[in-house]
Amino acid sequence: MKEFDIFEAEALAELASAADTPALEDWKARRLGKKGPLSEALKRLKDLPEAERREAGVRANALKERLARAFEARSHALAERAIATQLEGEWLDLSAPVVPARAGHLHPLTVVARELEDIFIGMGFSILDGPLVEDDWHNFEALNIPPGHPARDMQDTFFTTAGAVLRTHTSSVQIRTLEKYPPPLRGVAPGRVFRCEELDASHEHTFYQIEGLVVDRDISVAHMLYFLKTMLAAALHRDVEVRLRHSYFPFVEPGFELDLRCSACTGKGCSVCKQSGWIETLGCGLVHPKVFKACKLDADEWSGFAFGLGLSRLVMNRYGIDDIRHFMSGDLRFVRQLGG
Ligand code: DAH
Repeated sequence: MKEFDIFEAEALAELASAADTPALEDWKARRLGKKGPLSEALKRLKDLPEAERREAGVRANALKERLARAFEARSHALAERAIATQLEGEWLDLSAPVVPARAGHLHPLTVVARELEDIFIGMGFSILDGPLVEDDWHNFEALNIPPGHPARDMQDTFFTTAGAVLRTHTSSVQIRTLEKYPPPLRGVAPGRVFRCEELDASHEHTFYQIEGLVVDRDISVAHMLYFLKTMLAAALHRDVEVRLRHSYFPFVEPGFELDLRCSACTGKGCSVCKQSGWIETLGCGLVHPKVFKACKLDADEWSGFAFGLGLSRLVMNRYGIDDIRHFMSGDLRFVRQLGG
């Protein structure tokens, strides 16, 4: 009987210090298991005299039950404690401020190109497209720039090893359009162009233009001027003052450069307009008869105007970007400043 008491005290003390499941299982096997001393003692009861056997049997069974209950209680307490520890570790501060995920946004070149497209669509234009890798015909020859023509020097060109041309201007889309669609037509072609330039803050090997083409009967410079002025006012969200200067482009006759009154100094002269009061904005002119002929159209029946606008430069003006090379740098710090 005394052994029972000692066994119980020891077992309970040991149970109280079992801190995890393996320790608990170990305790159970040793204290309550079939080969444990308690089971052995129960087996030996039969050797005792009748009177003692009964009492010992009752006590041993009661002890076994108490230990089993103590085991359950300890298991339960440990499980509770494990859950409490877990909850404490996984505690979430629901009031903590959330850093919002950074949403993507359109590139400023895309934003402005789409805005211009919308303006043109509102004036009955289609959006045109053409390949970036062109052939000599579409980039030069059909635009009245034959081999050896001095105008080819105006644009230093990238050629592929197979002799194809990375288009040096979106004017190639004029030819693609005239070959494909019967006039009358109106279209604009925004897109990437390439030139083998000496790179600096205002020259980049890859940049963006928007080409415009209107072909109909009896189109004059007056139509062109009215149209360009309307388009620029819509693009810049303000009234604009423009002027035409004679200029030479092989695919138009007459050819012009269109200047915008400098908005930085309202024409008084400043560093933005190099003291001239005007900003060169686009090239334009009436479609050259040779261009119509190259596209198998009757130059006596059809007339039209075309223009080419430097989209990269327009975006630089609008956002105050001082170096054209930022566009192609892939530097997210640059792009992210212009998002939203
Ligand atoms: N293609 C010319 C350039 O890249 C720009 C240009 C000038 C386009 C006159 C035209 C035009 O359509 O009529 O410099």
